[in-house]
Amino acid sequence: MTDSTPCFGCTGVHLRLGGREILKNVSLSVQRGELLGLIGPNGAGKTSLFEVLSGRYHAQRGKVYLDSQSLDGLDIFQRARLGVARTYQSPVVPNALTVGETFRAARKAYKPYMSVHDAEWAARLVHLEVPWERIAGSLDTFDRRKLLLACLMMRRPRVLLMDEPASGLINTEISELDLLLRKLVDEYHIAVILIEHRLELLDAIADRVVVLDLGAVIAEGDPKSVFKDPAVRAAYFEGAA
Ligand SMILES: Nc1ncnc2c1ncn2[C@@H]1O[C@H](COP(=O)(O)OP(=O)(O)O)[C@@H](O)[C@H]1O
Ligand SMILES: [Mg+2]
Repeated sequence: MTDSTPCFGCTGVHLRLGGREILKNVSLSVQRGELLGLIGPNGAGKTSLFEVLSGRYHAQRGKVYLDSQSLDGLDIFQRARLGVARTYQSPVVPNALTVGETFRAARKAYKPYMSVHDAEWAARLVHLEVPWERIAGSLDTFDRRKLLLACLMMRRPRVLLMDEPASGLINTEISELDLLLRKLVDEYHIAVILIEHRLELLDAIADRVVVLDLGAVIAEGDPKSVFKDPAVRAAYFEGAA
């Protein structure tokens, strides 16, 4: 079940970068215990929207909020402390550290420090089953993504922004990722926004989908009806041409 009040989102976001309009009047919201899929062709502005939501970019216009609190004016670290976590398209881990040292660095980055039990809990949560003596840089893509996600989950975020977490994964790994994301949403009631540009991957797990094209929202709704929307199909055919 989802809460009835929007937990996290933005209204009327306009973003210009390098003299170009990247986002045009974008509004979206996600509730606690909801998985919102954010889809759109390459270059649609999905990652840029995450930059605005997480506080790395500041939009020229528009608002970002968490519950009743405005996040405008707060930087990426302040938003993270309030419970907004995000992952990146490339799972970059510290090359010289072991898995255990990576967890340790992440634990010490938070105040108050997280305990090793928090790290062990998070590793179990995401099914990270590699020895902690392994060099993080030697892990495969999925284990890197799990390690980075576990470092975020330690802090029990309220909102999780995930930028194409399925990229570079094989089908069995994508199925495991889908189960994990549903667990975070259904059991831990996290509000998740998941970027994915493959329509079919969102069909199984998203409660709702927002479609971005050329920096604007062109459709929104349950996955099945959105995928039948002629404007969405046109955006994808043009994108593929
Ligand atoms: N820092 C930047 N400066 C100028 N243009 C940018 C910057 N970041 C992204 N863009 C442009 O914004 C558009 C949207 O990019 P992006 O948000 O990465 O799209 P998506 O994640 O949907 O593929 C692209 O045309 C990209 O070239
Ligand atoms: Mg992107």
